[in-house]
Amino acid sequence: MTPAKAQTVARLGFGLDWQYRDRYPQSMAELRTKYDGRLSHLSVVSLPSAGDARVFMDECARGLPVVHHLPGVAPAAPGGPNLELYTRLEAVSDVLDAVWTCEDIGLWSIGPYPLPYFTPPLFEPELADHVVEGIRTLHRLGRYPFVPEIPSCTLAVGRMSLGDFFHRVTDGADCDLLLDVAHVFSYAVAARRPFAQVLRSLPLERVVEIHVAGGYIDPTFDNRYLDTHSHSVAPAVIDLLQEAVAASPRLRAVTYEIGVGLDAGNLDEDFGRIEELLGQTDWTPAVVGPSGLAPAGAA
Ligand SMILES: [Fe+2]
Repeated sequence: MTPAKAQTVARLGFGLDWQYRDRYPQSMAELRTKYDGRLSHLSVVSLPSAGDARVFMDECARGLPVVHHLPGVAPAAPGGPNLELYTRLEAVSDVLDAVWTCEDIGLWSIGPYPLPYFTPPLFEPELADHVVEGIRTLHRLGRYPFVPEIPSCTLAVGRMSLGDFFHRVTDGADCDLLLDVAHVFSYAVAARRPFAQVLRSLPLERVVEIHVAGGYIDPTFDNRYLDTHSHSVAPAVIDLLQEAVAASPRLRAVTYEIGVGLDAGNLDEDFGRIEELLGQTDWTPAVVGPSGLAPAGAA
């Protein structure tokens, strides 16, 4: 009798941006096909309508569970979250049967004026409390859990550390946390703190999803990390990922966010590297949408 082929568990998902659906090394749909059987889920941002969400579900998700990454609801904005946008995007979450919704805590724009770079919040108690109030409002109004994401930090300003700020936010809102390990790295680089110490300062017991992505430290300005998603994942970020997976007892999903500047070789190499790292742990993903249907394409 031939021995049964060892069943491999898909432990990694892609983080995709709908506006770049045709500009990745392959189209989103082709990537989905290429990595079939190796994906636990997808995360998607910038889906503007329920109609686009249906196309995404038919052509890309094809049975995989989906996390809905929101674009600019911004609970950290001075006026609080954009509730009109949040309410409108629930129609997208409905089509996705979203496992949860998420967004980086910070600012993309001031009113109608886009900022040149995504900007992290001031790390001050008053602002943490303002974010708590915003998340509580989202939870009160919405039908999907909103999970705040540790932001990319091109600068670190305020009297609180990243860790103290996010303890205050997640305790105050009593919510889960999305840990982007490249963003943790960016803060450590900006604040000139040891990477692993910054990681351990965060409320890891609340982490349900981890993001990992490529980028690099500016060669002429060594406390600035460029969170491009279009370069290889830095070795120090891989180290942080390994430590974060081991230290996050409620972890349910690991998402590799990709950018349009990656070539297919870089993407495949990093996917394989992260997949191998996760395969060496006994962690398995747990991502199912609210309907509770078993995802057809996930292992
Ligand atoms: Fe992220």
